[in-house]
Amino acid sequence: MSWGLITAMGHVALRTNDLNKSVSEAVGVLGLRETERTAGTAYLAASAAHHELRYVEAAESGVDSLGLIARDGDAFAEIQHRVEAEGFRRLPHRPKPNGVEDAFAFEGPEGFVFEILHGMTNDTNPDSAPRTAFGPSRYGHFNFHPKDAVNMKEFLVRVMDFRISDVIGDGHGYFLRCNSEHHGIAVVRGGGTFHHHAWEAQSVADLARLGDRLHLLGKPLIWGPVRHGAGNNIAAYYVEHAGNVVELYTDIEHIYDDNRAPVRWEAEDIWFNNWSDYIPEGFRRIGLPPAAAVDGTV
Ligand SMILES: [Fe+2]
Repeated sequence: MSWGLITAMGHVALRTNDLNKSVSEAVGVLGLRETERTAGTAYLAASAAHHELRYVEAAESGVDSLGLIARDGDAFAEIQHRVEAEGFRRLPHRPKPNGVEDAFAFEGPEGFVFEILHGMTNDTNPDSAPRTAFGPSRYGHFNFHPKDAVNMKEFLVRVMDFRISDVIGDGHGYFLRCNSEHHGIAVVRGGGTFHHHAWEAQSVADLARLGDRLHLLGKPLIWGPVRHGAGNNIAAYYVEHAGNVVELYTDIEHIYDDNRAPVRWEAEDIWFNNWSDYIPEGFRRIGLPPAAAVDGTV
């Protein structure tokens, strides 16, 4: 397997109108640990990384940035070159997040901000909260719903070297990978919103325990467990305070063959669930727009 310019998923950064509520939910329901808190920003992780999720306090919830980790310094420089050559707007005023050697942000298609990271460090903060007795192994992927899925897919392939794992219908959706995991980014045509961030669990039993923790809080598991056709992962979903869907999954497909042809599904196939054609009403309409669309700033 050869490597492209992006070799790992970095983070999801979300604006939330209640920082403490979002953090306590990520810790108490999902099982992340808070690694650092600065004024208005909380850093959280499941893996050993400094962070895989950031919550930024804001008047209105929205999607702040989508972080991707460059293979090395050369790849980091090459992505900057491609971003500038394609005319995407750099966002130099945004502060570099803690925990990384270098980062740059730019506004990608449809107002989604991408943050390219180089040198994500491990969490070494002695005051970092201990991880709970449960929790996922790591952040795995995000899924979003741009209005033009074809254009977003082509941008991710052309600028960031993502590869196509599965194709849904004619321009309806694409599952894209940057390493052996079946998808790091899923693009499904929709209303221009983010949909979910997804975390890898060790076992399907962890999905049931997630349901039990939600039940104690009076919150529903909105869908699952299901076995996705695209990616083969078993997944369960809930809605976080800020307004996005959160997925806990296990048993996802890994692809080690660079020449593995994309799997093609018809849009009406049950690519979303091998076990049933049920999907909750309105499931695809949940999720936040990019912050640029909320307040005109990024
Ligand atoms: Fe997912």
